[in-house]
Amino acid sequence: MDLKVKVTDRIYWLGTNDRRKHLFENLWPLPDGVSYNSYLVTDEKTALLDTIEMGTGGDYVGWIERLLTEAGRTELDYLVINHMEPDHSGEIGDIVRRWPQVRIVGNCKTFKILEGYYGITENLVEVGEGDTLDLGHHKLQFVMTPWVHWPETMMSYDTTEHILFSGDAFGTFGTLDGAIFDDEIADFDTRYLGEMRRYYSNIVGKYSNMVQKAFAKLGSVPIDTICPLHGPVWRSEPKKVIDLYDRWSRYEAEPGVVIIYGSMYGNNAATADYIARKCAEAGIRDIRVRDASKTHLSYLIDDVWRYRGIILGSCAYNAQMFPTVERLTTELLHMGVKNKALGLFGSYSWNGGGVRNLKAFAEQIGWPLVADPVDVFGTPTPEKLSACDAIAQGMATVLKNCDAQ
Ligand code: FEO
Repeated sequence: MDLKVKVTDRIYWLGTNDRRKHLFENLWPLPDGVSYNSYLVTDEKTALLDTIEMGTGGDYVGWIERLLTEAGRTELDYLVINHMEPDHSGEIGDIVRRWPQVRIVGNCKTFKILEGYYGITENLVEVGEGDTLDLGHHKLQFVMTPWVHWPETMMSYDTTEHILFSGDAFGTFGTLDGAIFDDEIADFDTRYLGEMRRYYSNIVGKYSNMVQKAFAKLGSVPIDTICPLHGPVWRSEPKKVIDLYDRWSRYEAEPGVVIIYGSMYGNNAATADYIARKCAEAGIRDIRVRDASKTHLSYLIDDVWRYRGIILGSCAYNAQMFPTVERLTTELLHMGVKNKALGLFGSYSWNGGGVRNLKAFAEQIGWPLVADPVDVFGTPTPEKLSACDAIAQGMATVLKNCDAQ
C-alpha cells in the first residue's frame, strides 16, 4: 500500500485489512474481516511498533521505506514488539532482513518467543516496567501487561503526546473500510460494537483480571489517543473504548437473558421457546434464544458476556450433555466467566445426563441458580412445562434487582 496516514505529525498508521481469512486463530468467524495495525515513528530516531500478519500487507517493507524516505531517513533504528502473536509479528523476519542493524525492543518473555518463532537472538534491547525509550520528541514508556493477551504482552505509552500503543487491548474484529480513526466512523455502535465485544469475549475475556490490572497501572496517566493492533485508532473518544473494556473486564452485563439449548428432535427447542415466552410475561425485555447446534460457539460466548441471565438447556446424549452445549460449558469454565444468574432445563428418555451434568457445571463455575432445574421426561407437554415457570420468574426477579442496583 502507499497510504500515508498520519496519527500525529511524526507517527504513521501502517495497517492492513484481511478480508480473506474466515476464522481468526483458525477458530473464530470473521464475517467482516479483521485489520492488523502497526505504527511508524519518524522522530530523531525512527521506530516501528509491531508489524502485521505475514503476507497480508503487500509490499509492507517498501511502504515503510517510502515513508522513511519522505521523512528524509533511510534507517529504521528500533522495532518495538508489544505483542508476539503472529498476527502482529509476522513481518519481523522481513524487517530484520531489510534493516539488519535494527534494535529490537521487548521484554525477557518477548525474546524467548522471538527466538522460538524467528530464531532472532541479536540486537535486543530488553526493557522492563517503566523503562523509557527516547526517540527525540516522542518518549516511549513501557508498561508490562502480561496476559493481555499473551504472557509477554506490553504496551508503549508516549509520554509527550499521551498516545497509548495498546497491543490487542481496545481492538475489535472488522476491517477498517477507509475510516481509520474513531471520528471518521459515523455508526460505530452499529458497525463495530457487537464485533468488539465478541473480539473481547473470545480473545481477551479469559484474562479479564489482567485487563483490570492493566487499568490500575494506566489509571493515573492521561490518554489522548489509543493505537490498538486491531480496529480503529481512538483519537477523539478514547474514553468510550476504555469504558467498554472496563465494563466487560468487570463482567458488567446487560439486564437481559440468553437461552441456549441443545436439542436433537425439537423437545428442548420447544421448552426454550416456552421459557422465553414466560420470561417476556415476567417482564424481561431483552431475550435471545440460541440453538447451540446452529449458532457458532463464538457468538454464544459473546451472548454469555453480554447478558446477566443465562439459561442453558440440554437433552441427554450418551448419558452426558448434548455435545454442543458441553463444548460451550467447557469453554466457559476454561474462561472462568463470572457474575451470571443461571437457569437450567433439559430432557431425557431413560437415564438422563443433560441436566445432571449441567448441575455439575453450575457448581463448578459458581453461578447461582435462579430456580430448581427442570428435567422433562419425553415430550414437553403443557403440564410438564409449567415447572419451568419458576425459572422465568426467578430470572426476572434477579434481573429486576440488578436493574435497581
Ligand atoms: Fe491480535 Fe493476541 O494477537
